[in-house]
This record gives sequence, structure tokens and C-alpha cells, in this order.
Amino acid sequence: TGLLVVPPAGFAGYVWVDAGRSNTGTLTFRNPLRIPPELTPQIDADGRRRFRLTLQEGQTELLPGKQTPTWGANGTILGPTLRARRGDQVAVDVTNRLPETTSLHWHGMHLPAAADGGPHQPIAPGATWRPAWTVEQRAATLWYHPHLHRTTAKHVYRGVAGLFLIDDPESEALPHRYGVDDIPLILQDRNFTDDGRFDEANLGFGGVATTGLLGDDILVNGTYDPHVAVRTRQVRFRLVNGSNARVYDLAFSDRRSYALVATDAGLLETPQRLERLRLSPGERAEIVVPFRRGERVVLRSSRPAIGGNVFTRRLAGGADTFDLLEIRAADTLDASPPLPGRLTRVRRPAVTVREPFRLELGEFHLNGEVMDHARMDRVVQAGAVERWEIRNPGQNVHNIHVHGASFYVLSRDGGEPAPADRGEKDTVYVPPDGSVTLAVRYGSHSDPRLPYMYHCHLLAHEDAGMMGQYLVVSAADATRVPARHESHG
Ligand code: C2O
Ligand code: CU
Repeated sequence: TGLLVVPPAGFAGYVWVDAGRSNTGTLTFRNPLRIPPELTPQIDADGRRRFRLTLQEGQTELLPGKQTPTWGANGTILGPTLRARRGDQVAVDVTNRLPETTSLHWHGMHLPAAADGGPHQPIAPGATWRPAWTVEQRAATLWYHPHLHRTTAKHVYRGVAGLFLIDDPESEALPHRYGVDDIPLILQDRNFTDDGRFDEANLGFGGVATTGLLGDDILVNGTYDPHVAVRTRQVRFRLVNGSNARVYDLAFSDRRSYALVATDAGLLETPQRLERLRLSPGERAEIVVPFRRGERVVLRSSRPAIGGNVFTRRLAGGADTFDLLEIRAADTLDASPPLPGRLTRVRRPAVTVREPFRLELGEFHLNGEVMDHARMDRVVQAGAVERWEIRNPGQNVHNIHVHGASFYVLSRDGGEPAPADRGEKDTVYVPPDGSVTLAVRYGSHSDPRLPYMYHCHLLAHEDAGMMGQYLVVSAADATRVPARHESHG
């Protein structure tokens, strides 16, 4: 899949270009959208909400009449939706019934590093991992996925991922009947082999595939060729880019405008009117969309070729267009709550660290270094707010996700951030020749030994080592722990 463009003499490398792909007119939207079930927790004696997830292999009928071997949590593909409110104590018992060691990371969650589920918390086959923490952030659409170094791309692609929703009264002023007028849409691209398996060619990093896998078939919540019926005048969609590498540029087939109400880490201060929204891997957005009775409209992604440089983009020419989902409005629609003019109050933190952190996105490393479990790249103080200056001087699409923290985008390419960059975020898109500056607020949990990660969320890049680690330490430890060091033990 894709087009291998032969470069001119003197050009330093091949670029795998996904050019001019389209599925429009090929879908019939025959399958009802799967809605991941909500997982009911057990309430422990101390009030803690305890969830149980079992990671397992299975088979799922995605294409008509074909069984696709897939991985999932408590099912054959994807996993259930976990929910909690701010202030809740939660615990998850994660049992690994997969044939390989994996991990499970709570993307966007503010929690102690030991509960983070990154590469330092592997779960061996047959083992159960039991993280516990207190939810201490505002309402947001978070998600979980495996995060073992070098196998993240494969494990996510095979189907392990799910949502973790945090609720609070501000979020409940918006439509919030799950699966009715509050509908999650997990977007994931796949390639299928003729016999209906997931094609894993280009999944890993290497050879000419510098972007990683780009699939021609888009699954929504693990549904191929989906439609969803709605019966209210306004519907909230929680968009999650759970793809390995694909960036979506989302719009409706009739170009209707809708309200962007939240980005990765929570509500925006005020709804933003949009027609298009870009979402890179790992990013989330919540939108509220108006419907008229009896109508049908298609959610679509249209964008220029991902990856490449001036040379390949010129050759690639066309844009990709993928129909994702047909929305079918009922003949009578229930009224929806009016959209609040103000959704929340956003208090942007002031930067507290004197020197900015400069981060150059290389191909495929960060500031010239690849991930090393034993190397602590940075040490920061709990609660500190640091300015990050990120630059992508290369020819590949990247983004940056920071664990255990959230941030505000201060500027993009020297100018004002676009609406989709506003609000509190944890993942930010950085295209070729792009730059962003962030105000990153670190979490409150310190641990002088266990790090958090920051990395590109294009999973092949992450697996190739485009990842670093940082320790969050207390003020007392800040003088004792060297700013950069090898860890022992
Ligand atoms: Cu969504 Cu470090 O991951
Ligand atoms: Cu990258």
C-alpha cells in the first residue's frame, strides 16, 4: 500500500507517501456502530472503584463473512469504557491473557508514575497488574492502550485500546447520555489481507516506511463501514484518534459547522464554531453537532498526503478522502440542552522555570537521542510549569505527548494557536517545518526513581525510540537528583 516515490539524485532517503487514497462511494454504511460498553466497577469497602480488565485474543467479524484475529480487553476487539468522577479513588486489575508481555497506559491521566502503565510497568503473560490512584483532574475523554517499548504499534493495531471518561458537573451541562447523545468515536485505520486478517506490513519501523502503517480502511469503535442512528437535535461526539500514524482532518459531507467544546484534557472555556478539525494520533476532541430530522450526513476525513517533503508532496498531488461514519437522524428528534456560552474557567498557569526546554524532533529521535530505559533525560519539580519549544525541522509528521502532565499551546509557528490547539492538552501535532511552544504543568506526584515518558505518538516512531523520560521530584530531592543521569536498579 502507498506509493514508493523514487527520489531525485542527492535526496537523502525514501519517503512512503499515502497519496490520493479515497473510499468515498465504496461504503454502504451497513453496520451499526459498536458502542464500547461501560464497565461497572466493584466498590471496595473503602469506596474505591475497582475495574477488572482482561487482555485477550479473539476473532471479530469486521468484514462481512470473515473472521479477523484481534486482541481486546474483556472482549475480542477494543475494551470497555471506564468512568470515574473527580475525587474518586480508582483501581484497575489488569490481567494479561495475551501470548506476549504488554502494558496498559492511561493516556492523559494524572497519576503516580508507578500507576502510569508505560514501559516500566510490563505485565507478563498470565500476570495481573494492579495500579490504584485518585482521580484529581477535571472532566475529559482519556483513553488506555498498551505501551511496551518496541511493541506499542503492534499491540494497539491488534486492537487493545479503550476509553476512560472523567465526569464532572461542567461536563454534564453538555449532552451526556452515553451512546445516545454522547457518542464516542475511536478512529483507527487498518489494512486487511485478502483472507481478512489485519495486514501488519509497515507496522514496525524500518525500511522505507518512515510514517509507519497507514491503513485504507477506517474502523470506528472497531466497526467497519458503520452508521449510527441519532434521535436528539444535538449530539456530542467524543473523537479519539487511536490510529498508529494517520492524521484526520474531520468535516461533515455538507460542511455543516459544529461546536468544538473540549480538547484532550478537558473543556474549552467557550465553544468554538468550526467546520474542520485536525486530529493527530493520541489526540481527542469533543464536538457538539446539530441535526435536522430525517437527514443523513457523513463524517469524513479529507487531507493532503501525510508525510513526504516538497518533492513527494508535489508528486503525490491529490488529497486523501475517507468516509468514516454515516449519521442517520430519526424522523422526530428530542430537544437537547442549550449549549452553555461558557463551559469552564481556564486558568493558564504562569511559567515557573527560567530556562525553556528546547525539543528538536529528529528522524527518529529526540534531541539526537533514542529512548534508553536506564537514562533519565530530565528531572523536573512537582507542580512546576515549564516552557517547551518544540521544532520539527524534518520531513515527517510527528506529534508530542507528555505523560503525567498537561499543557497549553502558547503559539504555533510563531502565531496564535488554532481553536483545536486551545484548552488543556496532552498531545500536540507538529508537522514538517512546524514549531509549537507549550506551557507544560507537571503533576503533583514525585518519585525519585520511576519516570514518566514524553514521545512522538506516531507509534512506529515511538517504538523506534523517539521517546524520552523524565522524573518528577519533590523540592527537597531537586537538589539531590542530577538533572540527567543513568538509573541504577
Ligand atoms: Cu498514548 Cu505514551 O501514550
Ligand atoms: Cu514521529
